[in-house]
Amino acid sequence: MLLLKLSPVLALVYATTAHTSCGGGGNRNLEALFRSHVSPSTEIASSYQINFSTVVGPRWSTWEAPAWSGAIKPALISDLKQIIKIAAKNNIPFIATNGGHGAKTGLGSFDGININLQNFNTVTVDAVNNRMTLGPGATLGAMVTEVFAAGKEIQTGNSWCPGGIGVTLGGGIGMLMGLHGLMIDDLQSVELLTASGETVTASKDENEDLFWGIRGAGQTFGIVTAANYTVHDQTNGGFVTEANFYYTAAQNRSLWELIATFDNVLPAKLSLQTAMLYNATTDTASIWLSAWYVGSLDESQPYLDQFAALGPFATEILNLTQVEVYYQSVTRGVCGTGHLLTAYTMGVGRTDPDTLETHFADFVAFSRANPAYFGQSYMQWYSNKVNLQTPADSTVFPWRDVQAWWLLENIILDDSLLSAVDDWSVLQRGNFHATSGFDDEHVYVNYAIGDEGPAAWWSEANLPKLRALKARWDPHNLFGKGYSLE
Ligand SMILES: Cc1cc2nc3c(=O)[nH]c(=O)nc-3n(C[C@H](O)[C@H](O)[C@H](O)COP(=O)(O)OP(=O)(O)OC[C@H]3O[C@@H](n4cnc5c(N)ncnc54)[C@H](O)[C@@H]3O)c2cc1C
Ligand SMILES: *[C@@H]1O[C@H](CO)[C@@H](O)[C@H](O)[C@H]1NC(C)=O
Ligand SMILES: *[C@@H]1O[C@H](CO)[C@@H](O)[C@H](O)[C@H]1NC(C)=O
Ligand SMILES: *[C@@H]1O[C@H](CO)[C@@H](O)[C@H](O)[C@H]1NC(C)=O
Ligand SMILES: *[C@@H]1O[C@H](CO)[C@@H](O)[C@H](O)[C@H]1NC(C)=O
Ligand SMILES: *[C@@H]1O[C@H](CO)[C@@H](O)[C@H](O)[C@H]1NC(C)=O
Repeated sequence: MLLLKLSPVLALVYATTAHTSCGGGGNRNLEALFRSHVSPSTEIASSYQINFSTVVGPRWSTWEAPAWSGAIKPALISDLKQIIKIAAKNNIPFIATNGGHGAKTGLGSFDGININLQNFNTVTVDAVNNRMTLGPGATLGAMVTEVFAAGKEIQTGNSWCPGGIGVTLGGGIGMLMGLHGLMIDDLQSVELLTASGETVTASKDENEDLFWGIRGAGQTFGIVTAANYTVHDQTNGGFVTEANFYYTAAQNRSLWELIATFDNVLPAKLSLQTAMLYNATTDTASIWLSAWYVGSLDESQPYLDQFAALGPFATEILNLTQVEVYYQSVTRGVCGTGHLLTAYTMGVGRTDPDTLETHFADFVAFSRANPAYFGQSYMQWYSNKVNLQTPADSTVFPWRDVQAWWLLENIILDDSLLSAVDDWSVLQRGNFHATSGFDDEHVYVNYAIGDEGPAAWWSEANLPKLRALKARWDPHNLFGKGYSLE
């Protein structure tokens, strides 16, 4: 990790000098350039203007937050088209955002404007034909609310706050994956606003290669202005059995060993997530296991019994609608913004109790030694049933053989700790890779921190085709900042 976040003081200096410096649009008068080409409701602000904060899109982590020189919030898709054309013509770099969850290495030095997509918060469900269309400003929360209300379900991520299209473009993993595959597997077509300012359709029938690339590397070709998906009838009437088990640190080994028995045979309806926790006040570590079963308590009981048999110190069994399950990310703080937070990840092909035991010990030791560190280390297990039935070459998303997704979330309360956390996280990541059963790193691009590189995100084998698509659709590299193909 070479590029570290600017300190708050430096960031302020940067923001106030940006409009006089030479760079990616900071010295331009955005009003003069854009106003006459967009509808009156489109909002425009330079970063030094008081109203900037109401125009710019939100960010989840403050780590590597771009020091935007300005922001534009288009009111209409036709405005967005004009904005892309004008920005391209005037060499003004931009990043279009919705949920603002994409934190990637290097973005902290990005010099350009934010295009805030949040006005396009539309979700249209056609229950008769099992279709749904998302606008680029819709969040997962808005999407699952509408889909549920229509009596349907769709594979998605487990949280409320990320952008629905943003999650889709990298693949889209979550608790309905065992039943429906990845979110990209439910995707039927997209409208893509390209570098030329024109819109093209990509689907299995139209621009088929582009559609292949959009399903896994969709941040890199243009702005998806509409995405059309298949939705499914609700499983179990839309209710999920959620079991939360809390284990002491001493019980960790038996938990890892039990979970490892589910490798390759995890039932399609069952998902598992563990979170390693450390409480500095009590100086105790624990493991929180969430088991989500998309079915009744009766059906899930044989699995839950196995986890109960380990003797957790606390257990909670809930019967929740899918909407309620996802909304927990809000009540539990997962969606909270404003933290200096880095996230490291690796996909593994097997659950290795030794690696997990060692990582847990390291996690506890590092947390104990660093009071300004507040970390949560997650592991997610989703069934690969549908993934393994899907031809590997159907999408650029390559890692359908992953058994478990490790995601380390580091909240850092003192900037000076950042490089120590990076070093420690990189070491842990290497340990996960070493025992993953995969020679090449399997990194989910939407969880990636950015230093892993394109072969780890999309596989070495996919790179020639992906680069050819990039050259065809975005030759001047206007899109995909932080998702470099080189
Ligand atoms: C709390 C949290 C929970 C998460 N849970 C899951 C999960 O369960 N499953 C999962 O798969 N992922 C999950 N993620 C990861 C998530 O998929 C990525 O962070 C994703 O990039 C978020 O999209 P966004 O719109 O919120 O972010 P943004 O920062 O707004 O966008 C991310 C990138 O996508 C591009 N982009 C956004 N919209 C478009 C568009 N319409 N067209 C083209 N490019 C676009 C942006 O330019 C940017 O480069 C989670 C992330 C967080 C922070
Ligand atoms: C922000 O303030 C500037 C200067 O007062 C004004 O020109 C611009 O229209 C304002 N933009 C918005 C979105 O309110
Ligand atoms: C999705 O696309 C299909 C096929 O083009 C179309 O018939 C349908 O109306 C679209 N669905 C929605 C909800 O827009
Ligand atoms: C995890 O379990 C192992 C084996 O029982 C034990 O030796 C170790 O101390 C446990 N880890 C922690 C952090 O308690
Ligand atoms: C740590 O434990 C204390 C005492 O049980 C509790 O009050 C506190 O909320 C815990 N902190 C966290 C972060 O869970
Ligand atoms: C879950 O709640 C719903 C609605 O109250 C109910 O119909 C269903 O039977 C409940 N399921 C279980 C397993 O209790």
